Amino acid sequence: MGEESPYRRERLFMRQLIARELSADELDRIWEIDRSEEIGGWYTVQGADLHYQPEPQSLGGWPSGIREKYAPILAACHARGGWFHGLFDGDRLIGVAVVDSKPLGEQGQQRQLKLLYVDRAYRNGALGKRLFAAAVAQARRWGARQLYVSSTPSESTVRFYRRRGCYLNPEPDPELYALEPRDVHLLCDLGLSNDE
Ligand SMILES: CC(C)(COP(=O)(O)OP(=O)(O)OC[C@H]1O[C@@H](n2cnc3c(N)ncnc32)[C@H](O)[C@@H]1OP(=O)(O)O)[C@@H](O)C(=O)NCCC(=O)NCCS
Repeated sequence: MGEESPYRRERLFMRQLIARELSADELDRIWEIDRSEEIGGWYTVQGADLHYQPEPQSLGGWPSGIREKYAPILAACHARGGWFHGLFDGDRLIGVAVVDSKPLGEQGQQRQLKLLYVDRAYRNGALGKRLFAAAVAQARRWGARQLYVSSTPSESTVRFYRRRGCYLNPEPDPELYALEPRDVHLLCDLGLSNDE
């Protein structure tokens, strides 16, 4: 990994990354992204609060079964017009952000950020922020006022979203909650300050 290099950020910016939408037959490529991570601890939701528990864990890659679980969900999302935004370094897919077009929330004011991943070798170079800002822009284009985020409960991920202005969703969507009950379900108000 190159996380320690002081020149890493500059190298990433100098590199020609290509951003483009993924076609339906490219959805399987999402699992080529290196999702592995050293995790320092985990968040749980306790009532209206987030509780942090240090518990170091080395995640080797995608959890078993996730591909099978999410393949039909992502295919359906793509078929109804979901936004699948990939970042490529040459032919290599190194980041992805997905926003579902399906309205959520009592007034249909929310859209879900379905996926946000940056390949391990490319993290901490502002690509996550760039993908999040692009997802926010897409949700706004659909007229959404909030982005719904079902976040992996790991320390780094929850902190990443909270730094982007996300807060605990007091009323998680029942279907999304049933799908990922251990996730931290967050909302982000699409004001004027989401890194744009
Ligand atoms: C969460 C994730 C998308 C962030 O992407 P990224 O490209 O590393 O993030 P950025 O470089 O844009 O950094 C965003 C912030 O995180 C901080 N950060 C990134 N990597 C960090 C690290 N290893 N240690 C400490 N802080 C880190 C940055 O300093 C920056 O801080 P700021 O908000 O104060 O400016 C990425 O780490 C990832 O894919 N994680 C694993 C998969 C995952 O959990 N995805 C979300 C599924 S819901």
